[in-house]
Amino acid sequence: MRIRTLPEYHAAYQQSVENPAAFWGACAEPFTWRKKWTSVLGGEFSPAGRSTWFEGARLNLTENCLDRHLATRGNKLALIFEPNDSKTRHQRFTYRELHQQVCQFANVLLNNGVEKGDRIIIYMPMIPQLAVAVLACARIGAVHSVVFAGFSATAIADRVQDAEATYVITADGLNRGAKQIPVKSVVDEALTTCPAVRRVVVVEHLGWPVLMQAGRDVWYHDEAKNAALTCPAEEMKAEDPLFILYTSGSTGKPKGVVHSQAGYMVWADFTFRNVFQVEENDVHWCTADIGWVTGHTYGLYGPLLAGSTSLLFEGVPTYPDAGRFWEVIDKHHVSIFYTAPTAIRSLMALPLDNVLSYSLSSLRILGSVGEPINEEAWHWYDQHIGKSRCPIVDTWWQTETGGIMISALAGITPSVPARAGLPLPGVQPVLLAQDGTEIAGNDQEGYLAIKASWPGIIRTTWGDHERARQTYFTPYPGYYFTGDGARRDADGLYRIIGRVDDVINVSGHRFGTAEIENAINQNEHVVESAVVGYPHDVKGQGIYAYVICRDGLPTSAADRTIFEASIIETVVAEIGKIAKPDKIQLVSGLPKTRSGKIMRRILRKIAEGETESLGDVTTLLDPAVVAEIVAGRK
Ligand code: WTA
Repeated sequence: MRIRTLPEYHAAYQQSVENPAAFWGACAEPFTWRKKWTSVLGGEFSPAGRSTWFEGARLNLTENCLDRHLATRGNKLALIFEPNDSKTRHQRFTYRELHQQVCQFANVLLNNGVEKGDRIIIYMPMIPQLAVAVLACARIGAVHSVVFAGFSATAIADRVQDAEATYVITADGLNRGAKQIPVKSVVDEALTTCPAVRRVVVVEHLGWPVLMQAGRDVWYHDEAKNAALTCPAEEMKAEDPLFILYTSGSTGKPKGVVHSQAGYMVWADFTFRNVFQVEENDVHWCTADIGWVTGHTYGLYGPLLAGSTSLLFEGVPTYPDAGRFWEVIDKHHVSIFYTAPTAIRSLMALPLDNVLSYSLSSLRILGSVGEPINEEAWHWYDQHIGKSRCPIVDTWWQTETGGIMISALAGITPSVPARAGLPLPGVQPVLLAQDGTEIAGNDQEGYLAIKASWPGIIRTTWGDHERARQTYFTPYPGYYFTGDGARRDADGLYRIIGRVDDVINVSGHRFGTAEIENAINQNEHVVESAVVGYPHDVKGQGIYAYVICRDGLPTSAADRTIFEASIIETVVAEIGKIAKPDKIQLVSGLPKTRSGKIMRRILRKIAEGETESLGDVTTLLDPAVVAEIVAGRK
C-alpha cells in the first residue's frame, strides 16, 4: 500500500483504525508467504502486552528481502558500502550478490552447529558483513542481537548472558575516524564470564593479528571456503522471535526488546516506503549504526523489503573532515538522507565551507530521528542540505515500536519545524493526564500513549515478559505507554517534548539514569551517586553526575581530577564511552526526603542552572546540602 496524496492518507488512516484487519491484511498481501495467516490481529494488547499479528502465517524474512526481488531486481544494487577512509574503494552488492553472501554466511553458521532459535550476539563494525550476518541469522531462524560496537566488554557479557546466547559474530577490529579499535579483544574479555558461548565467528576486516581460542573461535574466511552459495530459508512462524535489541529503561538493567517476524516485516516495509515516499531509483542512506533500531529498520530491513538501494557507511561525519557526509551523498547520488539531530548540530557549528563544496543535487528527501530536532537545526538542515527543496520528515518512534509512528509522509502530510506531525496509519496516539484520563482536543500537553496495537509493537522483553507488561502496559491500563511527553498543537500535529521517565537521551542514545548510577557505583571510591540529564548544545542532553566519595571530598584540585577520571574510567568499562558523564560534581551529600528518596527534581534544576526555582527544600533530611551543591555547580 502506497499513499500518494493527502486525501489518500486520511482515507488510509480511517480504514486502519476502523478495520485494522482489512487494512493490514491488504498491506501484507504482496509478500512471499509459505502459508497465509488465519487472523491478522489477535492476542491481548493491554494489559497483557501480548499482541499477535498474522497468526498462523509461515514465512522467511530474507525470502522477502532478497529472493522475492531476484527475478526483477537481481542486478539492482541492494547495498553500497562506503568505508571509513575515503581513499579506500567503496563496494557494491546487487540483490543477487547479497543473496549469495547471505546464503554463504548462513551455511557457515549451520556448519558450525547453529540451530533455529539459537541466540547470536553480533558485535561488529558497520561493514557489509554486519548486514550479511544479520540476514544470515534471519535466513536460518536464529535470533540476532546486535550490540553496538561501542559498548564495553561488561555490557556485551550482560547481553550474552541475558539472551543466553551461544554464538558470537565479530571482527578483528574496526575503524572509527582516525581511530582503530580491536573489537575481537573486547569480545574475548567479555566471554571470560560467558562459558556457554560455543563459537565465535571472526570476520577479517583490518587484518590485525588476534588471539583465536582453539575449539571456540573460527575465521569466517576459512569457514566460507566450504560453504555453498545457496541455502534454503527456514520456515518461520509469524510470531517467532526475529531479533532482540537491548535498550535502556528507567531501571538499572537494559532490557531485551523482542520483535517477531511477520508484523515487523509489514511495519518496516509500510513505514519505510510511505514516510520516505520511496521510488525505484532512490539511494537511501540511514546514517544510524545497525547496532541501533534505526539501523535495523531503515538501514537494512525496510530498504531491502522495498527492493531499494541502501548505503552503509563505516565512518564518522567528521573524518577526514566535516564535509564527509556531503561528499558521500554526491559520490553515491544519495536521494534520501536520514540522520540524527545531534549530527546536524555538530556539523552546523563548523564552517559552512564544508557543505558548500558539494552540490547535494541528488537529494530529494531528508529525515531526522532519535530526539526532538530544535528549530535552528531544522532550518539549517532545510536550507543548507535540502536547499529548501527537500521535504523533511521528523520521525518519532522507539526501539519498542519497531518502526516510525508519528511523522510526516514526505511532501504529503504537514512538515512543520519541531513537530513530528501526524500519526501513521494504524497508530492511535493519545495524551494522558497524570491520572490516566485521555486529554481531548488540540493545543494540549500530556503523556504520550498509544491506544491500540500496531504490527511493529514490541512482543516481549526477552526472558521476562512481566517486565514488558509492567513497563509499557500497566502504567496506564488500556494503553501502551511511551515514556515520552508530547504536545498536540492547534492543528493536531504532535510535538515530542522528551522523556518523562528517568531516561536520558544523549546524542539520540537512551540511557537510564539508574543504569549510569549503577556503573558509577562500581567505582570502589564511590559511596553513592545520582545522575540527571541537562540541556546540551550538541548532544541534546548531557549526563550530569553527582557523586559522594568514600573518603570525603578531595581537598586538592589534582585529587579531584584524578577521582573524576577514575569515575569516567569506571563508566567506560561498565557501559562504554557513549555513556561517559559530561559533568561530575563531587558532593558531600545528596538532597533526600526524610524517607531517604533522592530528590532528583532538585538535582535536575541545579544541573539545568535553574537554581532560583528549587522550591521548598526545608523538608529535606539535610537542607544545607542543597546550598553546598548549588555553590559547587559545574
Ligand atoms: C526519542 C530511536 C523526538 C524519544 C528510534 C523516544 C524522539 C526515544 C524522536 C526512543 C523524534 C526518537 N522526536 N524524540 N523524532 N525519535 N525520539 O529507542 O524520547 O533509541 O522515546 O529509538 O528517542 O529512542 P530509541
